[in-house]
Amino acid sequence: MITDSRIREELKNVLDATDIKGIGVRETGKVRDSYKQGDKRVIIVSDRISAFDCVLGTVPFKGQVLNQIAAFWFDKTKDIVQNHVLEVPDPNVMVVKECEQLPLEFVVRGYITGVTKTSAWHYYQQGIRNYCGNVMPEGMKKDQKFDKPILTPTTKHEKHDRPVSRDEAIKEGLISAADYDKVADICFKLFKRGQEHARSMGLILVDTKYEIGKLNGQFVLSDEVHTPDSSRYWFADTYEELFKAGKDQRKLDKEYVREWLAERGFTGDGKPPALTDEVRVEAAKRYIQSYEVITGKQFIATDRPPLERITRLFAK
Ligand SMILES: Nc1ncnc2c1ncn2[C@@H]1O[C@H](COP(=O)(O)OP(=O)(O)O)[C@@H](O)[C@H]1O
Ligand SMILES: [Mg+2]
Repeated sequence: MITDSRIREELKNVLDATDIKGIGVRETGKVRDSYKQGDKRVIIVSDRISAFDCVLGTVPFKGQVLNQIAAFWFDKTKDIVQNHVLEVPDPNVMVVKECEQLPLEFVVRGYITGVTKTSAWHYYQQGIRNYCGNVMPEGMKKDQKFDKPILTPTTKHEKHDRPVSRDEAIKEGLISAADYDKVADICFKLFKRGQEHARSMGLILVDTKYEIGKLNGQFVLSDEVHTPDSSRYWFADTYEELFKAGKDQRKLDKEYVREWLAERGFTGDGKPPALTDEVRVEAAKRYIQSYEVITGKQFIATDRPPLERITRLFAK
């Protein structure tokens, strides 16, 4: 078990930004720095945390946790769809096949919940009953399970995600009908696998987002999969009881940080409040716990700071 003081010590070693020479052209995302070189992409997962589409600061060990959870799930789902992984040469690094990303992100939801403006619960409360082409019945309560998981795609490459239905996506020329249906099938299979494994670890995989690319005409699962950044997880044992009582679920995801921000009045507009060290340490504990519960493995804190390791790795 990692101690609080070890996490605190890591506050000064967090991987905030990278600028590695000689491994390709850098592209900085909110959380990851990618270096593109021909048909390969080196993804360095930083310790940056984003919520409501904004980068908020850093959380110790977060990059390592996310990258290792993604690696775990890529391996666990490779019989459903091929993925982009070539190798994981460092806890924070994944070398992947460069793919042409579809202009949609595929969100699968098993339950109606959320706090952001694109969440199913937000729309439902506003009286919307057709969400991305999915009809939601009357009388649903927050955190209720859908009869069957629903797919709610959002557009990529726009400032804020915009939900679209299958028909809209096709009409807007974002994807062909045939591709959409193939991808939808893949997403539901991935989600089912995710829910089954989560369940075996005492968790509920509530919802998640997939990014699918294409390579030589084939679909490739890319980006990250079933990580606490791209997914919500709840503890299964208390679900029913809390749901019946109308109480919040016990969560194992970055909802903790989202809620901390929302309590301070930040839901995406204006300047986000600075994360305190206390919140950063608490968030780190939750990320580490998520690694351990999801993978069933003990989290090993690396001795050397991530930037030092990565610099050395690529100096070779
Ligand atoms: N195999 C891949 N090929 C091409 N692009 C990829 C691949 N895997 C992930 N990406 C892209 O790399 C970026 C990852 O960085 P991230 O911090 O998530 O960025 P963002 O701020 O866009 O969410 C995303 O834009 C994602 O679409
Ligand atoms: Mg992303």
